[in-house]
Amino acid sequence: MKVLAINNQKGGVGKTMLAVHVAWYLAENGARVLCVDLDPQGNASFTLAAGQFGDARQLFFGPAICPPNAPGVHLLAGDRGLDAVDFRLQEAVLEFRGAMAGLAPHFDYAVLDTPPTWGGRNYAALMVASCLLAPIDLETYALQGVRQLLAQKAAVERQARQGRPIDFLGLLPSRFQSQSPRQRQSLADLLRAEGSRVMFPEFGVLTQRQGYAEALDLKAPVWTIRKTAAQDAGREIRKVLATIKARLDGIPA
Ligand SMILES: Nc1ncnc2c1ncn2[C@@H]1O[C@H](COP(=O)(O)OP(=O)(O)OP(=O)(O)O)[C@@H](O)[C@H]1O
Ligand SMILES: [Mg+2]
Repeated sequence: MKVLAINNQKGGVGKTMLAVHVAWYLAENGARVLCVDLDPQGNASFTLAAGQFGDARQLFFGPAICPPNAPGVHLLAGDRGLDAVDFRLQEAVLEFRGAMAGLAPHFDYAVLDTPPTWGGRNYAALMVASCLLAPIDLETYALQGVRQLLAQKAAVERQARQGRPIDFLGLLPSRFQSQSPRQRQSLADLLRAEGSRVMFPEFGVLTQRQGYAEALDLKAPVWTIRKTAAQDAGREIRKVLATIKARLDGIPA
């Protein structure tokens, strides 16, 4: 099971929008995809509700989960019960690691959607991730957020992975407003500051488009919505998703 964590300690940058589309895309060709919603807000859980087979909190506190063994997107939903992770941090994250290992034979991929604040659930996600992808916005504090994220990634690798690195797929500019000179400048600044160490130009960018928000409401991939604007968004995100899948498939299981 390849585990992709989608994380950035910044709110509203498109983490959940990306996570649910990655899950749908990976499942298209019959793969078994686990989506774990580690965010008590439960946004991914709303959109992927049809595939729910348990709750994410069970990974930390039990009872054990009985996994389906079928193609498609299967959800462990997020709710306020996840807040308790930070009160029993050490046991909870170890339990989580064991539970994820138990699920590994039943899924080809796992996609972890994470909350926007640092804490036990994000720590747990980085602990088990094969790779990490960070959507970013291009507003004023984007750069600080990125530096914080990379520092946390390094800390988890050191403390909880015996130095085993998380494959960092990079930053994905999201909700990009291509008409805004300020945002174009911000993208150029980010590239200059972080360069190809963290930005992978082959990913492209996800622009701000109504179709994405609509897809989350309709609980369906944006490329299945029959409106020209949604179809444009569908083409844009599928290119990004194909690159993500190729990167995931390229890492050892
Ligand atoms: N590219 C986009 N274009 C237009 N709207 C978008 C785009 N990406 C996300 N949105 C919308 O922006 C809002 C925030 O997106 P999303 O929930 O995916 O962000 P998030 O990073 O998961 O937020 P949080 O930190 O609260 O979990 C949602 O209402 C979503 O529908
Ligand atoms: Mg979210």
